[in-house]
Amino acid sequence: MAKIIDGKAYAEGLRARIGKAVKTLQAEHGLTPGLAVVLVGEDPASKVYVANKAKQTVEVGMNSWEYKLPATTSESELLALVEKLNKDPAVHGILVQLPLPKQIESAKVLNTIDPAKDVDGFHVVNAGRLSTGQDSLVPCTPVGSVMLAKDVLGKLDGLEAVVIGRSNIVGKPVAQLLLQENCTVTIAHSRTRDLPGVVRRADLVIAAVGRPEMVKGDWLKPGACVIDVGINRIERDGKGKLVGDCDFASCEKVAGSITPVPGGVGPMTIACLLHNTVRAACQQKGIPVPQM
Ligand code: GUN
Repeated sequence: MAKIIDGKAYAEGLRARIGKAVKTLQAEHGLTPGLAVVLVGEDPASKVYVANKAKQTVEVGMNSWEYKLPATTSESELLALVEKLNKDPAVHGILVQLPLPKQIESAKVLNTIDPAKDVDGFHVVNAGRLSTGQDSLVPCTPVGSVMLAKDVLGKLDGLEAVVIGRSNIVGKPVAQLLLQENCTVTIAHSRTRDLPGVVRRADLVIAAVGRPEMVKGDWLKPGACVIDVGINRIERDGKGKLVGDCDFASCEKVAGSITPVPGGVGPMTIACLLHNTVRAACQQKGIPVPQM
């Protein structure tokens, strides 16, 4: 049976280190990092994420601002708020929760965020820097996924990694990070031929497709490390349940290690967001980024 990777415990440890770094920055530099989170509309999952982000930001001692705008907000209204936050020196990180309502072009909003404050790492400048190996703010879920993989596997050098999913939020950036770790990276997706055959090559599987329980145990190479990024709400036996993109019951019998859902990658995302905010704050003030 696979080792269960405890993302919740790892994230708690990381948040504790971030909290210490924030105390040191306050004492030595008078700097309190601050994160502004913008939510447009009433998507229930987004509301939960945003509330958790704000709560954990405060718990590590940072400043937190929440902007909740109605679903009818126009693109120009949202852009005006982003520009105001870009100019505010107390705000070091800006996050606009996705998805945005239909009348708003997400790429335009994301590319209006000052790249130095883009703690999601979604601005085209940060995406370009990541893909060319330059210092950048890196998307949180990919960073958290690779941290967990390195925690169980040690060095990833030379491993066959298969990423399932090609989104800008997870698939593409996690593939870039794995390349930097010297993995041989395959990005698979909905049009990939013989997906089980491709996944069976992998020492490391990153599942980020958003399809409940798609990856089955018999798709895996025995002993593979499985990082399940999916968070899917399903109905089972008349009850709501959260499941990943991997069929946990069959995968845990074949994998060497696997992240559970919930309690795997999920908690890492917010911890990495806080990490990015501290980093962004230090870089904006010309202070060395503390070890966290
Ligand atoms: N929606 C789902 N995941 C994310 C994320 O990581 N950042 C933002 N801004 N929105 C999201």
